[in-house]
Amino acid sequence: MIGNGPSPVGTGRLGAVPAADNRAVLPGALRGTMARFATGVTVLTTGGEYAHGMTANAFSSVSLEPPMVLCCVGRSATMHEAITATRSFAVTVLGSEQEHLARYFANKSRPGGAAQFDGLDWQPGPFTGAPLLADSLAWLECKLAEQYDGGDHSIFLGEVLASEWADDRQALLFYGGAFHRGVGGAPEQTG
Ligand SMILES: Cc1cc2nc3c(=O)[nH]c(=O)nc-3n(C[C@H](O)[C@H](O)[C@H](O)COP(=O)(O)O)c2cc1C
Repeated sequence: MIGNGPSPVGTGRLGAVPAADNRAVLPGALRGTMARFATGVTVLTTGGEYAHGMTANAFSSVSLEPPMVLCCVGRSATMHEAITATRSFAVTVLGSEQEHLARYFANKSRPGGAAQFDGLDWQPGPFTGAPLLADSLAWLECKLAEQYDGGDHSIFLGEVLASEWADDRQALLFYGGAFHRGVGGAPEQTG
């Protein structure tokens, strides 16, 4: 049976009567539903005068030709202003040993500006100057191509300027509102 967990508000659960209008889809119910979608975990960064980092899992590949990705950032987040101002951003995809970075860059009490990267191992992206965090799974640098309204978030579409990955590390995953150590490592040799 699917959806046999407790339903936070009795709506939005498989088998329940569909909501007649989307005002019945309360934030808690949507959060609970979306928590069933396992994701990786990234840190979005911006550089220069607007140096900033923010944990984000609303990140997706969009297009290969031209190369494009998107991320969704809350309108009230400092990162929202930083991307709008710099018109560029970088994405660091975290590995299983980097949960502390995911927690740190989601913590509102971290220092502001460039000081939040003090003591961390990072290098500036050659195209954007945005910090790329060391020992991660992958990195991308993006130029802001479009910004779309996404309710209480904005959808930032980025044109990928550069990307790199490492294949000897495991992924950090986010599922059910918790961090998990995921799959990965060196690919098996076949043939
Ligand atoms: C696993 C995880 C994923 C998150 N994903 C997002 C996201 O995709 N977009 C977003 O706006 N906030 C996301 N957040 C929340 C922000 O990281 C958090 O609100 C942060 O403090 C905002 O930082 P800022 O206001 O300093 O930019 C996420 C938090 C966690 C722990």
